[in-house]
Amino acid sequence: MATDDKFSTLLFQIGNVFTPGSPVNEKDLFAGRIEQIRKVLATSSQRGYHAVLYGERGVGKTSLANIIKSLMPAGTGGWLVPRINCDGTDTFTSLWRKALSDIRYTHEQRGAGFTGEVTKVDTALIDQLPQELTPNDIRRVLSNLSQQVNLIVAFDEFDRLSNPAVSVLMADTIKTLSDYAVSATVLLIGVADSVDGLVEGHQSVERALVQIPMPRMSAEEVRQILDNGFHRLGMTIDKGAADELVGLSQGLPYITHLLALESGKAALRHGRLGVSSSDVDEGIREALSSWQQTTTKAYYDAVQSSQPGNIYREVLLACALAETDDLGFFSAGSIRLPLRVITGREYDIPNFAQHLKNFSDESRGSILQRTGETRRIRYRFSSPLLRPFIIMRGFSDGLLTRQQMKKMAV
Ligand SMILES: Nc1ncnc2c1ncn2[C@@H]1O[C@H](COP(=O)(O)OP(=O)(O)OP(=O)(O)O)[C@@H](O)[C@H]1O
Ligand SMILES: [Mg+2]
Repeated sequence: MATDDKFSTLLFQIGNVFTPGSPVNEKDLFAGRIEQIRKVLATSSQRGYHAVLYGERGVGKTSLANIIKSLMPAGTGGWLVPRINCDGTDTFTSLWRKALSDIRYTHEQRGAGFTGEVTKVDTALIDQLPQELTPNDIRRVLSNLSQQVNLIVAFDEFDRLSNPAVSVLMADTIKTLSDYAVSATVLLIGVADSVDGLVEGHQSVERALVQIPMPRMSAEEVRQILDNGFHRLGMTIDKGAADELVGLSQGLPYITHLLALESGKAALRHGRLGVSSSDVDEGIREALSSWQQTTTKAYYDAVQSSQPGNIYREVLLACALAETDDLGFFSAGSIRLPLRVITGREYDIPNFAQHLKNFSDESRGSILQRTGETRRIRYRFSSPLLRPFIIMRGFSDGLLTRQQMKKMAV
């Protein structure tokens, strides 16, 4: 292939390998998550157990559900893993109709008369079901189905169900499936800090529901995304550039895909197969300009000020770099260190307490959420994507150096 063609082809292919806009569908491009996969498999092999997979937006919940089927151990028979997206208009019946809509089965039917021929008839399962479904109907159907095939029914975006009665019915269903030891597995997936926020009436099913938290990815897992993707394309990424992408990703695979895509394209545009730090610079600029308008606006609303010498941008960047707990919360004290690194000056809490308060006010778009009592106040960004955005902005505006950025890759 002529060189020009090769690069044009790769520029096309890279968009199928790094896909910030869509979940992974392919086992070979899926990185890490060994613990979560192990738990899903263990749950599905245990009669009477069901699972709930929960975590922040964009950590990779849907991707995991997509590839479960391809991870099933050989010799375990056929698998059916329908994944349904829940939305605010769904009822209990509409959810299960979606879940079962693609399932067909064949059965034998004898024609009329004494010598009637036996023919095979292909029927859609939902055509055999009542108009309105109840937990008991579902139990009967799943009980029959699971005698023929291994079944995991995944309800994605479970947090979007707006009618609490629907989640109560789902909890009832899980309870009855469990009481009757039906071997099908229900997998609830949602954006939540904890299961309590996700499953209404969950206490009644506590024993039957295995909780699988989906945390941010480790640096190793993020590196694996880069390795898998660039390897697939026949490209490479040097260590410095990979470290920067790992640092910027903050464990969010969405960011890894976005930056790997833009940095990889930059390298290809320059006629190179190897991605280096200069491509990452270009990638960051591209990523920032393609970023959703809502995030960009939230940033401007938060830092706008007519006061010369104000430190809103610096404090917000320090917030994005602050150490957080598992749920993404940080304290005022944890901002001191990053603020010193960025500005080279010693600021103490009284110097930026007002900034933090303002960031959580409506006047600055409530970019931070505040919780806790006086002296134990903690903050968190209103959307997880704001952190990496602010860090990239800081880097591209020159507030953060390459050396400082690399230190974040742990
Ligand atoms: N294990 C993984 N390996 C490689 N890429 C991943 C992995 N998990 C997620 N991704 C990528 O990260 C991005 C977000 O993934 P996904 O849509 O699965 O997350 P999610 O938790 O379902 O997000 P949301 O809460 O918005 O529904 C996608 O670009 C996807 O390709
Ligand atoms: Mg999802």
